[in-house]
Amino acid sequence: MQTIKEFIAGLPKAELHLHIEGTFEPELMFELAERNRITLPFESVEALRKAYDFSELQDFLDIYYQGMNVLRTEQDFYDLTWAYLEKVSKQAVRHIEIFFDPQGHVERGIAFETVLNGIHSALVQGKKEFDISFGIIMCFLRHLDEEDAFKTLDSALPHKDRIIGVGLDSSEIGHPPSKFQRVFARARDEGFHVVAHAGEEGPPEYIYEALDLLKVERVDHGNTSLRDEALVQRLLREEIPLTVCPLSNTKLCVVDDIKNHPLPKMLELGLKAMINSDDPAYFGGYLNENYEAVSPLLGSTDQEKKEKLLLLASNSFTSAFISEAEKEQYLQEIAAYSQTDSREPAQE
Ligand code: HPA
Ligand code: ZN
Repeated sequence: MQTIKEFIAGLPKAELHLHIEGTFEPELMFELAERNRITLPFESVEALRKAYDFSELQDFLDIYYQGMNVLRTEQDFYDLTWAYLEKVSKQAVRHIEIFFDPQGHVERGIAFETVLNGIHSALVQGKKEFDISFGIIMCFLRHLDEEDAFKTLDSALPHKDRIIGVGLDSSEIGHPPSKFQRVFARARDEGFHVVAHAGEEGPPEYIYEALDLLKVERVDHGNTSLRDEALVQRLLREEIPLTVCPLSNTKLCVVDDIKNHPLPKMLELGLKAMINSDDPAYFGGYLNENYEAVSPLLGSTDQEKKEKLLLLASNSFTSAFISEAEKEQYLQEIAAYSQTDSREPAQE
């Protein structure tokens, strides 16, 4: 039998909550800064990494937007996306649905197409080279106003063939989903899938708003749903997936300690949760490291833990915006993988 770490390493997985700008590793940031003749306000890679000490979401967002400033050309966005693909191609990641934040770039004078073309062409290459399927989800920055979100939606319309959905991210508290009700209605009319960050720092009411007003198909994070029994019942009834991000939650102090992470409770309640990495360059780990971080909480024996890991990986595919046939194919990959594990002789 494989160890838990080995089991996670080979387990076929999907990633559904990943901000591509959050994969910007300090080494690449310095390299692109030099290429674009930009001076970073940090002396070295080490000094930059040291600044990744956050006590809440806003601390992180300030640094995240500063980091983005280095991204200027289509090649930069390609290189950023390619670096992420190279990493996760070694983690048995089979499907990804990635967020990007166009407003963070357009407001700096970078064309929407420069961003989208760079990200998309890397993903096309990743499908060819690593057989990782993908979708792109455009997020609205919730600290900006409705008008800006409408403008951003307009920019996306000519590119519907390359953008599968819209989401909502950035500073949650004080920017409830209701602020974007009309933008999301229009996005749905245009045929986009809809998701939103809700209940990361914000109250359960924001999750209700995301469901009732934005009509989201998945909730990103959703941690605070556990504070409201009626909301949990609703999420169960409607089988709404929660894209949970364990290392993000500890780095941003959404949970005080990984030992108290709500994921085991979510699974116990029957919620359709799965594991994601959110902003791996800032939070200390990609997808496998997130699975590893919570695996000790998933049971008392390796057998129990592996069953939960299989459930999490299955949820990652069944919650994806892919066809039923594709879901079935990925679930079969998982089933085949779990059989190889039980066929291996014990190593003790
Ligand atoms: N929360 C909200 N907005 C974000 C995040 C996050 O974790 N990462 C990038 N934008
Ligand atoms: Zn996020």
